[in-house]
Amino acid sequence: MSNEKNRRDFLGYTFAATALVGGVVSLYGMKRAWDPLPSVLAGGFKSVDLMPLKAGKPKTVEWRGKPIFILKKTAQMEKSPRDLIVNNERFIIAIGLCTHLGCIPAWKKDMWKCACHGGAFNSSGTQTFGPPPVPLKLPEFSLKGNTIVLGETGEEYEKIASYLASQV
Ligand code: FES
Repeated sequence: MSNEKNRRDFLGYTFAATALVGGVVSLYGMKRAWDPLPSVLAGGFKSVDLMPLKAGKPKTVEWRGKPIFILKKTAQMEKSPRDLIVNNERFIIAIGLCTHLGCIPAWKKDMWKCACHGGAFNSSGTQTFGPPPVPLKLPEFSLKGNTIVLGETGEEYEKIASYLASQV
């Protein structure tokens, strides 16, 4: 009788232990399935230090699969309410997709030119020639010191976005 009880206890503990391990493994698997992939997390936000940029030489970074143009303006380039002012320097931040049909314009001397249908955007991202109907779009960003964080909306973004909205 006692042997039978021990055997039942043993089977009971074994079953409980197996169920516990199985439960933990399942929960771990579910957590891994629900958590965003590292590539998704990395794609959500991107920090770019503005200080190394050279005036008149735009930098292109990739954010959420799109090219983002960041231009530090030269003293000769026109001032615009769209300028982001950091340390008395003026910057333009724009999604690098032509607002006509989405080609990627290339920087030529002092403007972005779109090879697809000849569109052009000046150093403020404003369309100046050809079929693009509106300026280059503004990506969401916030300013932290000398660094912009793409994917967050900060005060500076709101100001420039409302200026652009008032121009439509
Ligand atoms: S896609 Fe750029 S001008 Fe048409």
